[in-house]
Amino acid sequence: MDTVRTIAAMRLVRTQLAEPVGFVPTMGSLHEGHLSLIRRALVDNASVAVSIFVNPTQFGPGEDLMRYPRDIPRDLAMLANEGADAVFVPDAAEMYPTNFTTWVTVEKPSERLEGAVRPGHFRGVATICAKLFNIIRPARVYFGQKDAQQVLVIKRLATDLNLDLDIVTLPTVRAPDGLALSSRNAYLGVEERQAATVLSRALRLAETRWLAGERRADVLRREMAELIQTEPMAQIDYISFADGETLTELETASAPALISLAVYIGQNRLIDNLVLPQAPY
Ligand code: PAF
Repeated sequence: MDTVRTIAAMRLVRTQLAEPVGFVPTMGSLHEGHLSLIRRALVDNASVAVSIFVNPTQFGPGEDLMRYPRDIPRDLAMLANEGADAVFVPDAAEMYPTNFTTWVTVEKPSERLEGAVRPGHFRGVATICAKLFNIIRPARVYFGQKDAQQVLVIKRLATDLNLDLDIVTLPTVRAPDGLALSSRNAYLGVEERQAATVLSRALRLAETRWLAGERRADVLRREMAELIQTEPMAQIDYISFADGETLTELETASAPALISLAVYIGQNRLIDNLVLPQAPY
């Protein structure tokens, strides 16, 4: 496995990679969710490149850039064990030299939900992804459904800029108690970790109620909120029932709809989502 830190070195390694190349962009602190993407990329492609870069431009002021978990030696050992072919581990100066002034803004899908609460977040994500795609030049790129809005933003970016690559989205990987895997789960203390299951419990409640025939989005939102409020450590940021393509809020929860939520557990902001299944008729 080649591990490189500069763009020039990555471009050189890229010339040696067998086609097609699959690419998994990450911010490191790898978990089973990332590994599911890498394993699928290894099946679909002749070689796989992974990036590890905690991208400063997607963090807002006061967010967790400084304390975001980092463990490069552990990540590299995991990637070698999985059979990744190349790992790109640049630093911030390599990706954003002092004269850097070009930004990628994906307008519509960036504006609601996470984009409304975290201004500039998706500009940072779209910019770093555009740069990484240009450096790695993959045939396929792999993202987790856990960051559903990020997937919409990147798909829009790829379509609008005619990028010659496929975006592959894989299901959220969950702990046995339902908690969606996330590098940020490392922030949770023992009691917070327990309380954090309330996100997936609320999503399951909405799905169960929807399958039983409830279609009023305001009723489903309220029932989710009531469940979350039974957890003393939880503070709701938003609960959304939105069209899965446009992210416009729905009055009637028809499938396919994206139910997504952001909830503080103590100081830790967690997100999760679920796509309502197609109606069975
Ligand atoms: O999902 C992430 O880990 C990041 O947003 C990404 C796609 C690696 C861009 O920094």
